[in-house]
Amino acid sequence: MNYKACLFDLDGVLVDTAIYHFQAWKNLGKKFNYELTEEQNEQLKGVSRVESLNKILAWANYTASETQKNAWLVEKNEEYLRLISNMNPSEILPGVIDFLTQIKALGYQIALGSASKNAEIILEKTGLISWFDLIIDGNKVSQSKPDPEVFLKGAEGLGVAPEACIVFEDAQAGVEAAKAGNMRAIGIGEAETLALADKIIPNFVGVNAVDLLQF
Ligand code: G6P
Ligand code: MG
Repeated sequence: MNYKACLFDLDGVLVDTAIYHFQAWKNLGKKFNYELTEEQNEQLKGVSRVESLNKILAWANYTASETQKNAWLVEKNEEYLRLISNMNPSEILPGVIDFLTQIKALGYQIALGSASKNAEIILEKTGLISWFDLIIDGNKVSQSKPDPEVFLKGAEGLGVAPEACIVFEDAQAGVEAAKAGNMRAIGIGEAETLALADKIIPNFVGVNAVDLLQF
């Protein structure tokens, strides 16, 4: 197969914003006396804002009105925006720029496929935005990962067949989305959480793109 495009998740792949999401959700949980754990936060990776709140409320066994939920979603995001307001290029994960440099030189198209509605702000603050030919974020999709919509829209927007796309993901839901879209999936992180991925690497440090993108 002649692969033509690399589609990247944002949070946990290019930058580590999971810590900021965790902090903001944890603080919100205090409103209904719920202490969110790190294991639970792992399950929120790749999951949209509204679905994350629904999951947390279910874990807490707490029923909230739609009005209350909407207010909490705004509150959570306001805190998250405060937490990411000082993000800068130093928060790009190790090896990422070197890897992007390699794939650009190899002629791959590069797209973002993220559930986050804040993706562009983060790409701008970290200076990553100029690497991307296309950005598909949470504002452009109606279905959350593991639905493949975000990656299929990426492939379509780049004019590339899904089978010619390679997805980089740190979340189980994201790997499932890539596979559901008939794409190759490279998991970034630990084998236990990313069992469905075609390949798994701990991070991009020292990665040779030609070797990694060989299937
Ligand atoms: C990413 C993160 C999730 C987050 C989602 C929505 O997928 O991994 O933890 O809930 O984006 O982010 P947002 O910035 O729109 O609240
Ligand atoms: Mg992620």
